[in-house]
Amino acid sequence: MTIASPPPAGESGGETTRNEFSGVAHAVVQAGVITGGVVVHTTPANVVPIPRQLPPSVSEFSDRTAHVAELDTLLTSAAGDPGPTAISTISGMAGVGKTALVIHWAHQVRKRFPDGHLYVDLHGYGPSQPLDAADVLDQFLRALGVGGEEIPKTLADRASRFRTLVDQRKILVILDNASTADQVRPLLPGTSSCFVVVTSRDALSGLVAREGARRIDLDMLPLADATALLQALAGPRLATEPEAAKELAQHCARLPLALRIAAELANARPAARVGELVTELADEQQRLDLLDAGDDESTAVAAGVRHRSRWNFRTGGRRREQLPETDRGPCACTSARRDGRRTLPDS
Ligand SMILES: Nc1ncnc2c1ncn2[C@@H]1O[C@H](COP(=O)(O)OP(=O)(O)OP(=O)(O)O)[C@@H](O)[C@H]1O
Ligand SMILES: [Mg+2]
Repeated sequence: MTIASPPPAGESGGETTRNEFSGVAHAVVQAGVITGGVVVHTTPANVVPIPRQLPPSVSEFSDRTAHVAELDTLLTSAAGDPGPTAISTISGMAGVGKTALVIHWAHQVRKRFPDGHLYVDLHGYGPSQPLDAADVLDQFLRALGVGGEEIPKTLADRASRFRTLVDQRKILVILDNASTADQVRPLLPGTSSCFVVVTSRDALSGLVAREGARRIDLDMLPLADATALLQALAGPRLATEPEAAKELAQHCARLPLALRIAAELANARPAARVGELVTELADEQQRLDLLDAGDDESTAVAAGVRHRSRWNFRTGGRRREQLPETDRGPCACTSARRDGRRTLPDS
């Protein structure tokens, strides 16, 4: 831009003030006479927004110290590694606390990702259809500042644009509740500056084998932690009946979700003794009914309190089944598999 200055005071000059401009202008101020300073704030067109998509942490989180440390170690070792994107998978049955763990951890390390964090619930299980990777990329690209009309049409093009945008940027990507490795693959950045955590009820052994993901298996809470969580949620009444509180925790198979429902049950009956609740839960059918969250279908499904199919845990092509046991036999709180397709081996 060229600005021809007005003639100094006192000179007639004969020249008029004029502006000449060529090129792209992001912010323009045009005025006849300006007195005082003018400050123009602009956002350069090539600045990519910083997404901050972490959901809130769980209240009364019962510390998964070993698993948090494992994630820390993976992140630290990935930091200096110029290789492919580091991926961690967190596998475990419904309601065991996979999402709660990754969100809790992510809040602790969020400062290590100055370029932000992307989060998506892929709906791998539960009543709604799993999200399509193309739709997820649409969301991610928008979060990274790509306008609707600029979003490529095909999955491959969206994935490529996504990788371009996150290249060299320190972004945490959380792909929660994945159903298969194929659902996840197009969503992987191509750069080691990003760190990806995938949660799934499946082992996603294909991601481990082909993409070198590190798998963390999440199991029920230790009895002491499960009882402590009940006490934290249901108050001092539990502390006055410590043995009953332990039994209650066992009836919940030490699964955080079932523990939360049981605590809610105890809170709803302030006059009842904990022992009474334990007696009611001792009957398996009664346990299913009482621990059913009822008004929340996805929670009920996640708790597995309605469906008692076994949780198929696959690893390295071998299939083994893992079924939590309570003191009185198999727990009702195992995962539901509504969709037969998802029992197919992971690619
Ligand atoms: N360590 C924990 N301390 C306290 N509460 C927890 C903990 N882990 C999970 N929860 C609670 O238990 C419930 C289920 O946890 P979460 O949703 O993380 O399970 P999930 O394994 O992700 O289940 P799904 O397979 O259905 O996605 C949530 O209400 C969560 O708040
Ligand atoms: Mg989850």
